Amino acid sequence: MRTVLYNYQIVDADTCLNGTVVIDDKIITDVISADSFNYAQKIDLLSTGACMVLNGNGLCLTSGFVDMHAHFREPGFSQKETLESASLAAAAGGYTTVCCMANTKPPIDTMEAALALRTRACELELIDLYPVISITKKMQGNKLSEFLQSVEEQKQITYMPLLLSEDGRDIADKELYRRAMRIASVLNIPLSCHCDLDGEDAATQRVIDIAKNTNCRLHIAHVSTKKAAGIVRREKAGIKARGADGLSLTAEATPHHISLNDRLAKKLGAETNGKVAPPLRAGRDRTAIIEALKDGTIDVIATDHAPHTMFDKENGSPGFTGLETSFAVCNKVLAGENNFSLKQLLALMSANPARILGLNDRGKIAKGMRADITIIDLEKTWTVDSYNFKSRGKNTPYNGMMLTGKVLRTISDGKIVY
Ligand code: NCD
Repeated sequence: MRTVLYNYQIVDADTCLNGTVVIDDKIITDVISADSFNYAQKIDLLSTGACMVLNGNGLCLTSGFVDMHAHFREPGFSQKETLESASLAAAAGGYTTVCCMANTKPPIDTMEAALALRTRACELELIDLYPVISITKKMQGNKLSEFLQSVEEQKQITYMPLLLSEDGRDIADKELYRRAMRIASVLNIPLSCHCDLDGEDAATQRVIDIAKNTNCRLHIAHVSTKKAAGIVRREKAGIKARGADGLSLTAEATPHHISLNDRLAKKLGAETNGKVAPPLRAGRDRTAIIEALKDGTIDVIATDHAPHTMFDKENGSPGFTGLETSFAVCNKVLAGENNFSLKQLLALMSANPARILGLNDRGKIAKGMRADITIIDLEKTWTVDSYNFKSRGKNTPYNGMMLTGKVLRTISDGKIVY
């Protein structure tokens, strides 16, 4: 089936033009600038016999967002979120590809568990879900996960995760961590690190030091302090100066760490509704993270979508639900208050995470790419009300806040999912 998306402002990390995107089944087959010769004729021709023609009236059309870090809670915690509610929330937030973390019950520590979850997610036909596999068995920190062990034993691989991570916990055993990094490097899978052993700053330096000479593609999750951002900046510069260094380094920041601070956490309840890991930081940290996103030290915006029940929040579970506010929050803080261009913002939310995850078929609007498309009204102002979220997690720190920029429609793999 052909879909012609006509009269849009097409923006991605590289492009900004007015024009039309043509989708045939699941692939973008043409991107035509409105300035091009004979545009009207071409659109007429393309629309003939088309099943669907959508006039965008100048709305922004971009490539579906890619989230390297979300918690989908299945198996084991469906009172917080289900595969379906999380997938719907992702689609409503403009996300078409998501990596979900392994801290479920039981933890996702085998290929079979990851594949079972992915299969169920595929059956929903909403978004493209890639379960992350944990680094250690049962996420207990003392033995490599079955997945990493079986790779060592050269067993046949049926599911290749895009990311390995023990998110939610750091790993104390250095040798075990290094072994995992070596295996990840052989498999060419990035390893995302939750750094909090002896504090984020020390833990960030530690994990980079452990990774040296392993050839690992190391990714630092949710960088939230000025010091940690400084460490990533310095280490990246070192890697660049030395050339191939046996390590590649990338990093992410969350919408909440660039928009909120510790004062707000206190107001919401430092041990309840304002609690998140890593915690909301001081204003100078927040500014430093924005600076690090601007100069390329931090490559990616990742939501760390962490839905919880109200009961769990009141009893100290850390985390915020985040998929449905991510774009508008980043639009406000980065584009609105810090002069990021839309291209820069979309690089952080789509092109860069796709590249780090090795997904060459998405992240940009171009011929031959997967038809993952997000349509946004950049002018639309709306008030956050978690009652309206698709996510079961209503634990947002943004309730009542006015934001500008609303995802209106999401197309995933050629199908309208929101
Ligand atoms: C995460 C969760 O709830 O799974 N929470 C969070 O605040 N980011 C886990 C974690 O990183 O502690």
